[in-house]
Formats: sequence, C-alpha cells, structure tokens
Amino acid sequence: MDNVSYMQWRRQKLDDYPRNIEALVVDIGGLNRLSAGEKDMIIDKCRRYNMAIYRCADPAVDRAAIRAFAANFGLNRPDYHLCANDDGVSELCVASVGTRTAYVPYSNRSLSWHTDGYYNLQSRRVRAVVLHCEADAASGGENALLDTDIMYIRLRDESPDFLTAFEHPECMTIPANRDSLGEIRPEVTGPVLSYGSGGSIHMRYSARKRNIKWREDDMTNAARECMSSVLGDKNGPALHYRLKPGEGLISNNVLHNRTAFEDGEKSPRKLYRARFFDRIKTL
Ligand SMILES: [Fe+2]
Repeated sequence: MDNVSYMQWRRQKLDDYPRNIEALVVDIGGLNRLSAGEKDMIIDKCRRYNMAIYRCADPAVDRAAIRAFAANFGLNRPDYHLCANDDGVSELCVASVGTRTAYVPYSNRSLSWHTDGYYNLQSRRVRAVVLHCEADAASGGENALLDTDIMYIRLRDESPDFLTAFEHPECMTIPANRDSLGEIRPEVTGPVLSYGSGGSIHMRYSARKRNIKWREDDMTNAARECMSSVLGDKNGPALHYRLKPGEGLISNNVLHNRTAFEDGEKSPRKLYRARFFDRIKTL
C-alpha cells in the first residue's frame, strides 16, 4: 500500500473506530438461525473492526452449531490443537483433571494480552476465532479487546521502525512445550507482525513474562514498550466486555485478555472456542 492509500485507510479506521461496545453488537436469531441480513451485519462489523459480538435470541448451542455458524463466514479450517475436541471446538471451563489442568485458559486465573495460537508454527497461523458464552461466571471473566489494525496504526504513528522490529523473523520465540513424556510442541520462532493476502494485518503476541524469548535488540524493546503502553492505557482504544449467556465474539484474532473469575456453585462459566486458519470472509 502506498503512503497516500495508507493515510486514507488510517483515517477511515480511526474515524470508524467504535467508542463503545454496543457498536460491535448484532442481534441474531441463533447460531443455527442466522438470517441473510444478520449475516451481512456481522460481516460489515468484521470488515470495519475485525470483530463483532453477536447476541442470540435462541441460546441453544453445541459444538456442531459453533462450526455451522462459523462456516457462514468462510471459517472452515479449524486448528485442531492439543486441548480441542475432534471437531476443533474447545469447551473452556475450569478443568480439575487431565491435560487441561496445565493450561491457564482452563483455569479461573486472568489471561494477559495475547492473540490466539501465538505458539503455533507459521503454517498453522490462527487468523480467526469464535468465542461463544454458554454460561458466565458468578463474577469476573471480562475480556478486553483491541483491533490489531488499530495497534498497527499506533505503532506506525510512533515509529515505523517498530514495525520493522516486529516483522523480524526472529522477533519472538516460544520455547518447546515438554511434559514428562517428552516434547509436545517444538520451539517456535517468528515475527509479531505479518501480512496476509490483500495486506491484512496479523499479529502474533503474548504479554506473558515467562516462557517467551524476545529478540535482544533496542528497537524490539522499544516496540514492546509502545505496545504495552497502548494495551495498558485505561483511556486507550481497548474495549471491555463480559460475554453473557447466548453471546459470542467472532474476530480476526484480535488482541485480547481476560480477567480472573469466580464460578458460582450451580453453573460454572463455560465458553466454546473455535480457532481457524481462515480469515473471516468479508467480500
Ligand atoms: Fe485467547
């Protein structure tokens, strides 16, 4: 994209940027009852903000319904990862037994800023995610969300050198994942910032302090500082929302975090999550 086109795109993104979460919300009949008009509204939000929150009148949900809903948006290639069930859909709730107990998403602890699948190989890049709430927590479990395009603009405004640092193929390394039986996943090294067809922006990021090795370079450090300050800014561009039962987020894997939560005794928090190698089809 030449500079004139970039400045036009930047102006449009900033003018359009939602000031409140309601701008992202689309009411729909249900996961299996999506009208053409509702679908178009979700696509419009995703085109402008890289995400939409849908609110189902009919709260019926199962893993097949999540896949069927996602398929409306060209999301057909799920990331079958370690903890997902065979259909590529994970059920996120507090795990008390099994492999999942080793992973923070399956606990009630907070999750720092990240994009999903940052530990995946380049060939398994997660471009889109559907996160659907069946039951919310008694308290907590709120997400903060930030369109990756907005982060790109903020970095570029501050210094184009930050983009160069984040594009470096050795920018961020995630050490291998091993358990007592051996290696589950090899070490993964790659850029934070990469680009897809049509110039779409992809970020691979985790704010975790442990288990991440950053390229040791002043510009990388400065770029990370800039990113952290935008993400941590209370008056910054991040939006905050706590999904309620029957609501979900469909996104081009935007930056997000999660606050800690407490489950009630009767109905623990339960979210379905499906990750896809496809990007949301907006044409
Ligand atoms: Fe996530």
